Amino acid sequence: MRLHVADHPLITHKLTVLRDKATPSPVFRQLTEELMTLLAYEATRDVRVEPVTIDTPVVQTQGVRIADPKPLVVPILRAGLGMLEGMTKLVPTAEVGFLGIVRNEETLLPATYAERLPDDLSGRQCFVLDPMLATGGSLAAAIEYLFERGATDVTAVCLLGTPEGIKAIEALGDDRDVTLVLGALDEGLNENGYIIPGLGDAGDRLYGTV
Ligand code: URA
Repeated sequence: MRLHVADHPLITHKLTVLRDKATPSPVFRQLTEELMTLLAYEATRDVRVEPVTIDTPVVQTQGVRIADPKPLVVPILRAGLGMLEGMTKLVPTAEVGFLGIVRNEETLLPATYAERLPDDLSGRQCFVLDPMLATGGSLAAAIEYLFERGATDVTAVCLLGTPEGIKAIEALGDDRDVTLVLGALDEGLNENGYIIPGLGDAGDRLYGTV
């Protein structure tokens, strides 16, 4: 697994406002989207492109465009939805699939409760969006699910992560081509499973408690 933790004052500034419990939902949503756009720059560093010839007003020249099959962006429901616009703004030709994962309270294992993905993911570069990498159980399950469906490589983007979460993604093994992009690496988890210092429940702060 390749790990990239952002190191940029603009990202740290926006994360600081996001962490502040006084930040209201509309600002939280806006900042989540902006942070995703900044992280998308790093997350798409290895996006596949193909050569293309174009005419400038002056000469013919070579450039690139995003290759087929187009990248697949997969926000994990529900908090990942807050990051979607920030990603598609930068990669408008990407396709979007949806994955909902919850912990089964009997087995304590992550289980898929909603899935809307293309049937065949062969040859696909996938970008999974999930703001909080806490224990890593559901993100690891989501990534593994995409590989089982044929994805060639998966980049996961999280606003905050923990050492425990990173270990869970590493445990997927070297034969899985995974890149993890974090806005910041936090200290760890408290006894209730919240990231410390974190920002609270990302879904609640984006959408209110339901
Ligand atoms: N999910 C959240 O939304 N927040 C945390 O701190 C941990 C998991």
